[in-house]
This record gives sequence, C-alpha cells and structure tokens, in this order.
Amino acid sequence: MRLGVLTGGGDCPGLNAVIRAVVRRAERSFGDEIVGFLDGWGGLVDDRSMPLNVQACRGLLPKGGTILGSSRTNPSAVDGGVEACQETLKRHGIDALIAIGGEDTLGMAHRLTDVGSPVIGVPKTIDNDLFATEFTFGFQTAVQIATDAIDRLHTTAESHHRVLVCEVMGRHAGWIAVYAGIAGGAAAVLVPERPFDLDALCKSLVARHDLGNYASIVVVAEGAAPAEGSLALVDGETDAFGHVRLGGIGAVLASEIEKRTGFETRATVLGHIQRGGTPTAFDRVLATRFGVAAVDAVHDGAFGTMVALQNGDIVRVPLAEAVGQLKTVDPALLEIADLFSA
Ligand code: F6P
Repeated sequence: MRLGVLTGGGDCPGLNAVIRAVVRRAERSFGDEIVGFLDGWGGLVDDRSMPLNVQACRGLLPKGGTILGSSRTNPSAVDGGVEACQETLKRHGIDALIAIGGEDTLGMAHRLTDVGSPVIGVPKTIDNDLFATEFTFGFQTAVQIATDAIDRLHTTAESHHRVLVCEVMGRHAGWIAVYAGIAGGAAAVLVPERPFDLDALCKSLVARHDLGNYASIVVVAEGAAPAEGSLALVDGETDAFGHVRLGGIGAVLASEIEKRTGFETRATVLGHIQRGGTPTAFDRVLATRFGVAAVDAVHDGAFGTMVALQNGDIVRVPLAEAVGQLKTVDPALLEIADLFSA
C-alpha cells in the first residue's frame, strides 16, 4: 500500500515518535511506501510532500516538533480545499491517510472520510482535551515542563514573599493546569471549566499568608476567566478554525491580586516552552503505540476511526465520536487541587 501521513495543528513533543512508528510498522511489517505531507492540511491543499522511510527516521524518537511541519490550515475554509486534498491523494496514489492532530485536524479527517477518502486519526494535543482517549501524547511532557517551572517559581516566590501567577496552556480545558498545579503544590488552580471568583481567590491567599505561608503559586490556564468577565485576548485574532488567540489572563490576574491583597505579585507565562523539546518516556511510548496501531487500522480497513488509549489499551473509536465533544477536566481532580489551597 501507499500511505500518506501528516501532522496538523499546534505541534507537540511526540509527533516525530508517531511518524517514526508509522514508518517502521508500515515499511517493515507490511512493505508499504510512505509519503509525508508537509505542514498539515496545507501540504495536501498545495501538494507538498516528502518521501519517508526507516532510514529517514533515524534519530527521530527523542526529537521535539515534527519533521513534516504543521499548520492550522483548514481546507474547508479554502475555496475548493477539500477537493484539492482529494486530488493530491489521488495524484500520489495514496491508499490511506494517517492524520495526526487534535480536534481541528481530526475534524477535517472526519470530513474527508465522509466524502469517501480513507483516513485514520491519531490523537495529539498537549491540552489533553480530545474526547474518547484517556491521554494524548505531548500532555505529560507539557505537565512535566510546567511542574519543573512551578518548582523553580516556589523558591523565588519564597525569597521575595510574593505571589507568583503561572499561566499555562489550555484553551478550553484545564488539564495542564490541574495536573501541574497538583504536582507543583499550587495554592490555587484556575481552569476554563470553572469560572473563578477573584474576591474569593484573594481572600484565600490572604488567609493562607495569615497562617504563616509567606508565598503562593497560582496556576492559571490561559482559557480561565473570572466568573463575571470575559476571556483575556491578546488581540482578538482567530486562526483558520475560528479559535481566538488567548494569553494575558496571568498578567491581568497578577495585577488584580496585588491590588486587592497588597502582596507583591508577578506573572510568568510558560507559553510555547510547554510544547517544545524532547518528549517524556511516557509520551514516547504512547506515541509509538499510536503510530503502530494506526498502521494496523489501515491494514484492517478501519477507516474513519481514531486510535485511542482506553483503560491502558489502544482501541479504535469512530472519528465522529472523538471530535463530537471536548474532554473537560475531571471535577474530582479540581477537588484534590482545592484541598491544598489556603
Ligand atoms: O492546541 C494546543 C495549543 O497549544 C493550545 O493550548 C494553545 O491555546 C494553542 O495551541 C496555541 O496555539 P499557537 O501555537 O497557534 O499559538
């Protein structure tokens, strides 16, 4: 068979590990040929690709980013974009496409399946908010990076008796915030799922400091918002899938906390540091399992499905199920985080 593979959306550690696993399984177990399409769906719309083989994937496992490049190009938003994707697949004689991406990339994969193209999805997002899979690769690495950062923030916060606000990624779901907040011993974790009460937050920080705690770390997901307010936007810009660019809640929060409590407060925005660099061992293994399973799904003709992690096993779920809704933070985790506030 001839397989196509692409990586779409925001990059994350582990993408190269999936590509390597896809190529290894396809070439060595089935004698397939593999074509890598460049820059997500953009490479299919414009017909840009590179050949992939085991030799070309040497050394890829620990490498962050994606050798194929990524973009947020949405073929549905381009005139004739979906048809262009289909023509490119035909031109290259592609029997099946493996699309590695999050909600938007897999939404497009679903659309292509609907018009008859054979596609398999692989779930990717550091946000971990894709439905139907317990974890996406990249998430654990992001949590580790954020936890390391919080550990460092603790010592400087304590030296200066400050409140330090740490803004992490998480547009619609606060998985990184709650995991890193628990792991890093945050005094408060603010997530998009639960609009926060600024007064209550400040009161709990004051109560905490009254008890003799002389510094606090507040972890805030970029999509978190005060109960009465709106999202903090950088500039109101949207990407091709209509998502606003977020960022800025950390700075707003730091200034409000300082004003209301009198504690010196600073903000740190971790931003794309969370998406860069080498994947953790867990993410390398998960990415490798997903890559192998995706090729097996191709050879079983299970088109229109996404490989997923459920109860520790790799399973196949309909793409429609995966992109139908978001996986939001488990309230039980928020309860645990709250137990350590104040
Ligand atoms: O979708 C993953 C993600 O990292 C989000 O957490 C974040 O909001 C967004 O991508 C950032 O996108 P960009 O790389 O386009 O700035």
